[in-house]
Amino acid sequence: MNIVLGISGGIAAYKTPDLVRRLRERGADVQIVLTRSAEEFVTETALQAVSGNPVRSNLWDKEAEASMSHIELARWADLVLIAPATAEILSRLAGGSAPDLLSTLCLATEAPIVIAPAMNHVMWSNPAVQANRETLEARGCRILGPGVGSQACGETGAGRMLEPHDIADAVIDVTASGSLSGKSVLITAGPTREAIDPVRYVTNRSSGKMGYALARAARLAGARVTLVSGPVHLPPPANVEFVSVTTAQEMHDACVQRAGDVDLFIAAAAVADYRPANVADEKIKKQGDTMTVEMVRTPDVLAAVAGLKDGPIAIGFAAETQNLKTNAMAKFDGKKLDMIIANRVGEGRGFDADSNSVEVYWKGGEQHFDDMPKQNLAKELVELIAREFADAS
Ligand code: PMT
Repeated sequence: MNIVLGISGGIAAYKTPDLVRRLRERGADVQIVLTRSAEEFVTETALQAVSGNPVRSNLWDKEAEASMSHIELARWADLVLIAPATAEILSRLAGGSAPDLLSTLCLATEAPIVIAPAMNHVMWSNPAVQANRETLEARGCRILGPGVGSQACGETGAGRMLEPHDIADAVIDVTASGSLSGKSVLITAGPTREAIDPVRYVTNRSSGKMGYALARAARLAGARVTLVSGPVHLPPPANVEFVSVTTAQEMHDACVQRAGDVDLFIAAAAVADYRPANVADEKIKKQGDTMTVEMVRTPDVLAAVAGLKDGPIAIGFAAETQNLKTNAMAKFDGKKLDMIIANRVGEGRGFDADSNSVEVYWKGGEQHFDDMPKQNLAKELVELIAREFADAS
């Protein structure tokens, strides 16, 4: 799991090297963002040594931005943890202001945000601070603690940052309690490539964005995810088993081999329906004004998995330029699916677009999803799939 640890300026910041160590012991990759005042309490050198990653504190650091921009860091995170969180950072997050790297990153991330406050007990009980806490909780941020006890100022009360091992356990629980926790999901993505000769092939415009977004969303919902991908230009999502394939036959074999061990199968790939009957050993030379390539059917990956005895819940996509519902339902019935996600494609829609709009059909109902970024759509689809099938699989 990729965790961005945001450290703000409280005395409890001295405990954060231990927190980093405990997060890493639990399998997390940790990138650290310090606020300016946090630098008064803990050094970059110590944090860099325990995290194994460069530490960032400045939104305007050109070198750091060049290697991973703050937007990339916001996307990289599976979870953002702020510990310790001061009254100031709570106020910035609640108010949506972004004067520094940490608060900017929090606005730019879609990952869950977990906050471990630490401050004087009178500050913590101040109505302004409590109003900010309520706002953040209402938006889905998870607040850990604070604990009760003696404080650095010599007083006693609620305001101590929870101990590093308790924070690390709670963070792992947040992802383990997702809607697909305990489930395993196999997802296909991207196009396939069918060779004509050593230098030419038949393919399509799939970028893999939809399938990769689904893999990431399923992972964040707590599932064990295997992503079988055709050739695309995207980095594999973090903490996902990644299987790289080229042809429809390879995608078929990779999926059928694994399908018996998973609960859910989601086919987002645009698999070639036909491949050249013969692959020329040498580059085909120009001959005359026309050329005919005989094509033969490829195996249907989705139909093969859906047809397995005791196979997983099978969810397909339908990419249609016309008669969306009729064509999607023909695939739903023909391939014996549990759910079909229908999208209009062509003219810049569906394939290689950053956003998508879909109609989803299953035995118990149907649902429309307005056009939205594929990352967001993937999260909503995963929630729908979990609601309909998490108990059935
Ligand atoms: O990758 P992106 O650029 O983000 O674009 C996303 C997408 C448009 C590719 C995606 O949203 C989508 O619609 N994927 C399915 C594309 C497709 O080939 O649809 P189809 O209607 O031809 O196939 C129906 C279903 O059967 C699909 O789930 C497909 O994965 C599956 N299939 C088809 C043929 C085959 N030989 N094997 C299959 O598994």
